[in-house]
Amino acid sequence: MDIIEIIEKKRDGNVLSREEIHYFISEYVSGEIKDYQASALLMAIYIRGMNDEETSYLTEEMRVSGDVLDLSDIPGVKVDKHSTGGVGDKVSLILGPMIASLGAHLAKMSGRGLGHTGGTLDKLESIPGMRINLTEEEFKSQVKRIGISIIGQNEKLVPADKKLYALRDVTGTVSAIPLIASSIMSKKLASGTDAILLDVKYGSGAFMKTIEDAKKLAITMVNIGKQLNKDVKAEVTDMSEPLGMAIGNNLEIKEVIKTLKNEGPQDLTELCVDSGAILLKQAKIYDSEEEAKIHLRENLKNGKAFNKFLEFVEAQGGDTSYILNPDKFPISKNIIPIYSQKDGYVSKLDALTIGISSMKLGGGRETLDDVIDMSAGIILNKKVGDKVKKGELLCELHTNKEDFEEIKENVFNAFEISSKAFKKNNERILIS
Ligand code: URA
Repeated sequence: MDIIEIIEKKRDGNVLSREEIHYFISEYVSGEIKDYQASALLMAIYIRGMNDEETSYLTEEMRVSGDVLDLSDIPGVKVDKHSTGGVGDKVSLILGPMIASLGAHLAKMSGRGLGHTGGTLDKLESIPGMRINLTEEEFKSQVKRIGISIIGQNEKLVPADKKLYALRDVTGTVSAIPLIASSIMSKKLASGTDAILLDVKYGSGAFMKTIEDAKKLAITMVNIGKQLNKDVKAEVTDMSEPLGMAIGNNLEIKEVIKTLKNEGPQDLTELCVDSGAILLKQAKIYDSEEEAKIHLRENLKNGKAFNKFLEFVEAQGGDTSYILNPDKFPISKNIIPIYSQKDGYVSKLDALTIGISSMKLGGGRETLDDVIDMSAGIILNKKVGDKVKKGELLCELHTNKEDFEEIKENVFNAFEISSKAFKKNNERILIS
């Protein structure tokens, strides 16, 4: 086989065979195929696209390019949940204990935050002592014992994605749906679970800016699941404004605790209940989502979901005294209130601006080696659709930095206040 012929074939808009895709991935990982050749093929894929079969073959070849986890000694259906990322998205940390408290097994590998988006691992690490690098054996035995473990991505999983993603990043080929879908799905499938729920975000704070693109990505990933005989479902949900009221690592953990005590913001609680119900049905614990929702709400009220979170933190070495008494978490030196300058209704709250501002306050990283300030971020007091009076608090900035004037102005401008009542369009779609 010849890589030049494969590049030319895709360049001319033809369909690649499984053998050709296998050849490309295996020879690229081994170093036989060079970066400049892989770049040309990626650009041809970007322009010409891939059909569902090609995308599934690409995913499968990437999946088996490194270690693949075997979770078969854990009983029952093992589930995973993945969000394409956003601002204030702490759903996995709430949903995980909620479903585990009802008998599900969540075996999840998460990533770190970069740029305006937060990462589950960083949020977990704001709990003193929390270990996110368990061995494979520890990970499996914890999922078996308490029904939940969330750890960092195993370095040996899907080396093809590591190489290809770095190349896509510098060749203008990140935003091609077959490439995004195979990148996400190869990692999810390599981590060995039986059923996966994807949350594909759309809006300013998301990777996909429009609902149409988010739908296309969701459909592509669900189809990969079908081709590879895996139960994959995808929700398409809004990320035009942040999720919940807290953005920033320990601020979000405090919101996780509140939500698990049934005192969380409505948008966040509803998304966790809805997603939890889908997962519990995928896990074959309940026959209907309606029935699952009743039990999920019950476990938020009776403390079982919160107790499962405590058990999870303890199992991974975290100091549970912080969970029992969230006032122990460090607080930023500067807490800067931002007030509305007019009466009206919040008609927009730009997630991207809020995410970037939180990062600049110290709560996120611009490059992979930046160090995060766990106490920094933003606490919202108003969200889209809320009525607001002149002089009323819109939000608070939390930071240990002193140069926050420009951030303050940007955050103020992220709120659009209109004189007319505004109803939030919270369109949510399930693709299965
Ligand atoms: N997340 C991934 O893991 N891969 C992509 O290509 C895009 C987002």
